[in-house]
Amino acid sequence: MTETRIGYSTSQIALHWIIAALVLFQLFFGESMTTVVDAAEDGAAVSSADQALGSAHYWIGISTLALVLIRLLMRVVSGAPEPAESGPGWMRIAARGSHGLFYLLLLLTPIVGLLAFYIGDPWGDIHSLNKPVFVVLISVHAVAALFHQYWLRDGTLKRMLSPGR
Ligand code: HEM
Ligand code: HEM
Repeated sequence: MTETRIGYSTSQIALHWIIAALVLFQLFFGESMTTVVDAAEDGAAVSSADQALGSAHYWIGISTLALVLIRLLMRVVSGAPEPAESGPGWMRIAARGSHGLFYLLLLLTPIVGLLAFYIGDPWGDIHSLNKPVFVVLISVHAVAALFHQYWLRDGTLKRMLSPGR
């Protein structure tokens, strides 16, 4: 059972922001991996920048998967706080649902990425769908965090910045 806490631990906060930064890097520079894969199929040359970013995509993606597994284990062992009580009930359901969707995407995206790398299509096409889904989810998530902190003033963003019990 996942325990309920008042706040997130220092390691949970660190993992949240490290994983967020790695995912943003993957979203900004992922197209270099597409360029490398397409060039390999066509026997074409790629620029050294695309080569380096393609290789970074591979290793950063695998590291993200490892960090997400550690983060989920930590969540099961030490728990996570309940969503803030400040808004209407549907907001707590939306918070739980979107966090669950994030974890599902954070696990499936690198796994499908590995299938895309070693097998090719249709996994490549499926993997590429992660981008619009992540962009929508991250935008809604960030706006919701700011809305909680600065409109409802319930300290939601603060608890992802400083550790609680
Ligand atoms: C959280 C982790 C990851 C994210 C957010 C991510 C994101 C992306 C994005 C945005 C693209 C470009 C899609 C496009 O061109 O529109 C891409 C392409 C690609 N990624 Fe990832 N990726 C991740 C992990 C991985 C991993 C671990 C691997 C394999 C080791 C991988 C392999 C690939 C491959 C092979 C492509 C080219 C797909 C194709 O067009 O055939 N990715 N990724
Ligand atoms: C790639 C980007 C991001 C990803 C993948 C991500 C993912 C997540 C996940 C999975 C949780 C749930 C944590 C748990 O209870 O186990 C969470 C919580 C949270 N995130 Fe993010 N996040 C991202 C970006 C951001 C940004 C940009 C902000 C701020 C503007 C933010 C603010 C928060 C806050 C305040 C919480 C705590 C919510 C609560 O306690 O109910 N996140 N995030």
